[in-house]
Amino acid sequence: MKVTGESIVPGDKSITHRALLLAGLIPSTSRLHRPLTSLDAAASARLVRAVGGRVSPLRRGAVVSVSGAARWRSPGATIRCGNSGTTARLGLGLLAGHPVTATLTGDRSLRRRPMQRVIAPLAAMGARFHPADTDRLPVTIEGGPLRSIRWELPVSSAQLKSAVLLAGLVGGVPVAVREPHGLSRDHTERFLRLLGQRVTAEEGWITFEPGAPLSAFELTIPGDPSSAAFLVGAALLAESGELVIRDVGLNPTRTAFLSVVERMGGSLRGELRSEGPGEPIGDLVVRPSTLRGTVVGGSEIPGLIDEVPLLAVLAARSEGETRFDQVGELRVKESDRLALIAENLRVLGYRAETGENQLFVAGSDQPPVGRVRTAGDHRLAMAFGVLGTVPGARVEIDDRASRRRELSRLLRDPGADRQNDPAPW
Ligand code: S3P
Repeated sequence: MKVTGESIVPGDKSITHRALLLAGLIPSTSRLHRPLTSLDAAASARLVRAVGGRVSPLRRGAVVSVSGAARWRSPGATIRCGNSGTTARLGLGLLAGHPVTATLTGDRSLRRRPMQRVIAPLAAMGARFHPADTDRLPVTIEGGPLRSIRWELPVSSAQLKSAVLLAGLVGGVPVAVREPHGLSRDHTERFLRLLGQRVTAEEGWITFEPGAPLSAFELTIPGDPSSAAFLVGAALLAESGELVIRDVGLNPTRTAFLSVVERMGGSLRGELRSEGPGEPIGDLVVRPSTLRGTVVGGSEIPGLIDEVPLLAVLAARSEGETRFDQVGELRVKESDRLALIAENLRVLGYRAETGENQLFVAGSDQPPVGRVRTAGDHRLAMAFGVLGTVPGARVEIDDRASRRRELSRLLRDPGADRQNDPAPW
């Protein structure tokens, strides 16, 4: 296959969530240009509406206006977070500091993901949860006045870190959080600084101190590097061409996959074009490459946590073996990604094994043939869709919305993304 030309990808998912949720705290109108309009983003918009904010429809190509509320009200019904862990965890952080009672739930995948790791620090700050010891949604939170904390997180996670920082913001109290194994994405810290708050990072501790009152903002959201990664993968595995992906977020806490791809021998350049506001933006230039295996691990992992499925399929097409260390967190993503990556690679004819916290993939140039089980996990569907583009491949993806079609649509139709259908949960 030839992969050539220029493309853009949908707006960054993490930044879109933060923009919607933070704008939801501000009574005057904020405007978001090029937000992601997927079901996950719709879940954060739904949360903001449920507590009294107004959010214009999330439609591709439309500017989204958000008029929030300084004092959130108790929602009349359970807040449905769909598949979105970011909505649930950041949402709990924000609800914690408002005098509200709210119940949050999610789809089958989200209801199996751990929540005690976010409930514990918020409870220590003074929020109450019912049931208090639950590790799963649905959960009811009673927010109110909060106290300051210093909290060591059990895992490096932007969702947990952000929940605590945002609770500090709404509670008007200083907080400090520490991540144990490398820094996760820092979009919340950058956003808070943009909104006039004091956030510092020193010796592993991220500290928030309340600053100026929040005022409305206007923001253009960069393209999502995690979406761009799939196009990068397709272009690396292609037989010819050169792909340029424009206006991608190049925040260094999101681009660890670029260095791994380079280490694997991939021809990939990130060209920084602007520093902001708040987030670096640039272009990615990628060419077909012969890849070799590598070791991925340690403090590198939080910066490429969403790219492991894609890197694993690239590893399957590399010379030699690739080992991913400290990737146990992938077991509690939208699916048990670790198990499913290995299982699907084996189904397609490759050698792949998992340990509790590790993944091994042996490269081969034989064409992948078989049916992939995604458990509804979009990143697995996209990664195996990329593998399905190599010569001789016959990869069937179990997902109804056929991500292979979505990938070729993205390649043909820059800016295409998932439709904003109402979520069933
Ligand atoms: C996200 C953080 C990551 C990532 C998720 C989005 C965020 O999760 O996997 O897709 O927007 O904060 P963790 O923080 O749990 O690793």
